[in-house]
Amino acid sequence: MDTRDSMADKSLLRFTTTGSVDDGKSTLIGRLLYETNCIFEDQYAAITKTSEKKGHEKVDLSLLLDGLASEREQGITIDVAYRYFETDKRKFIISDTPGHEQYTRNMVTGASNAQLAIILIDARKGVLTQSRRHGFLISLLQIPHMIVAVNKMDLVDYDETIYNDIVREYSDFSRKLQVHDISFIPVSAVDGDNVTHRSDNMSWYDGHTLLHKLETVVVSGDKNLIDFRFPVQYVIRPHLNFRGYAGTIASGTISPGENVAVLPSGKTTRVKSIETYDGQLSEAFNGEAVILTLEDEIDISRGDMIVRSGNLPRTETEFDAIVCWMDEKLMKLKGSYTMKHTTHTVKVFISEIIYKIDVNTLHREQVDTLTLNDIARISITSAKPIFFDPYNINQVTGSFILIDSVTNQTVAAGMIRDRVRKVDDVLNVTNLSRKSTNVTWQGDIISGRKWEEFNDHKAAVIWLTGYSGSGKSTIARSLVEKLFEKNCQVMLLDGDNVRHGLCGDLGFSNTDRTENIRRVSETAKLFFQQGNIVVCTFISPFEKDRQFIRSILPDAKFFEIFIKCDLDVCKRRDPKGLYVKAESGEIAEFTGVSSPYEPPKHPEVTVETDIMTVEQCTSEILVKLENSLII
Ligand code: ADX
Repeated sequence: MDTRDSMADKSLLRFTTTGSVDDGKSTLIGRLLYETNCIFEDQYAAITKTSEKKGHEKVDLSLLLDGLASEREQGITIDVAYRYFETDKRKFIISDTPGHEQYTRNMVTGASNAQLAIILIDARKGVLTQSRRHGFLISLLQIPHMIVAVNKMDLVDYDETIYNDIVREYSDFSRKLQVHDISFIPVSAVDGDNVTHRSDNMSWYDGHTLLHKLETVVVSGDKNLIDFRFPVQYVIRPHLNFRGYAGTIASGTISPGENVAVLPSGKTTRVKSIETYDGQLSEAFNGEAVILTLEDEIDISRGDMIVRSGNLPRTETEFDAIVCWMDEKLMKLKGSYTMKHTTHTVKVFISEIIYKIDVNTLHREQVDTLTLNDIARISITSAKPIFFDPYNINQVTGSFILIDSVTNQTVAAGMIRDRVRKVDDVLNVTNLSRKSTNVTWQGDIISGRKWEEFNDHKAAVIWLTGYSGSGKSTIARSLVEKLFEKNCQVMLLDGDNVRHGLCGDLGFSNTDRTENIRRVSETAKLFFQQGNIVVCTFISPFEKDRQFIRSILPDAKFFEIFIKCDLDVCKRRDPKGLYVKAESGEIAEFTGVSSPYEPPKHPEVTVETDIMTVEQCTSEILVKLENSLII
């Protein structure tokens, strides 16, 4: 019954190439095709002739890629072109995406299902803004492997220093990106050095060739085989006795008999059969185009989504996304656009630009609009609910494009981060089993936003955690002073002070500490709501208690600062003489001596007070607040 036996042969690698204009991409791809014997003799003869005619000394392999007329006219590559080649070890599909700034869109669309990306850098020009932008896009698109090919080494006399400088500069930048596997190779695509064979001209390079890396990179396991998502493309009804739903499985697998739900109606049924042109299947996978028939008659139309009933995507009308703006025309904030998401088309509004990312520094900037090639995090409101998974879980149901409804131009490509966590949503959740009933939340007289405008900075909670004696209070005091000098509305909640009154009834058992942090968290939240920067300094030794405060505040407004200090140093400092008492048994349950401390897993900032000065620590926190657009 199953018709797909021949797929298991050689593995397939999809990769993409990007670079700035003239970095030599076409030549590099031409070289790969030529040296793996994947071009026809007559093709080679034709380009040899053209090269001679043009007076080139060597055969210009880039001519192989010159499929598009305008590419030849303008001397740039303008569309996504797919090329195919294979070696004894692997099959390859290259999506050749252009490097010209204007065509970032193609990079995003063409590269979206690539498993590896090659970034070309011209050895003579070094690292350019585009090289950084492409690296950043690769990390946003979550392409797991990246090769930086430093090309045209022949034109810099195969100089090792030039190569090393580029490697150093790009490594510094890429450390801030989430690309897990990055390698650098010095190449000359024109002559083939380090493309398919080791170069005699660069004996100082002891790494592998580009082809070797392409043949051996391990790429299994990056597909989502868990969450079954089937966006319905067409309803097929050839006659009254047959009703099927055609589409491509965006992720996961499905078999006849499985329970499914149809969105948006939420109706449930079971899969009756999986049909293809070649017959029925007993199981269908991710990426396959099939027709599903269902046990029950349900009203389903294009744009609906069939999912497994126990595993639903998010259904929201408000969500956050990272977008790459691709139109010459500026983005209209609060403007309406058409969104294409899987097979669904829906009208949307851009409700907020949260921040723009400077691709050179990766800093966040506050802006009112976006222009060509800008990358930003925005909030979107859709006229009808969309069914999605965040892009990091599902690249198909997590991505979309925006279209200008008037010109029909694609203006942006986006990756959904999550549903919008609105300040109000977050602030109204309560994780408590409440005993106080018949209480009504009194709305704000002055909204948080108005307070922020009035104060001229954002509200935030800055949470300093660390051992007793680590320097929390000292840094907190210095931070409060600096913020005050900057005219910020700032509040300080300090463990020792709070325990004099509000929490004076609590001791140091695990339960009491949890209650201590809960009270303080709620207090901080109240101050936060009224526009303050709240600096909190508590040992707060338990991860789950710090998670609590994080959970009741908006993501971008909570900063966990790990005041890191070697325990022995804290003991030596012993500012209040408490370690001595704890060690002699005079004080029980003392953190670091007789009670545990769980260091933060993902703090926003870590400062090490045993090697940094108070000023350095304070300034790191201030820089973080500036970069996060709080102050
Ligand atoms: S927490 O664990 O509940 O977060 P918190 O920061 O409020 O602690 O209070 C810690 C302060 O209480 C310390 O700086 C110290 O001065 C004092 N203290 C007294 N007994 C203890 C103890 N057993 N463990 C930790 N700190 C203690």
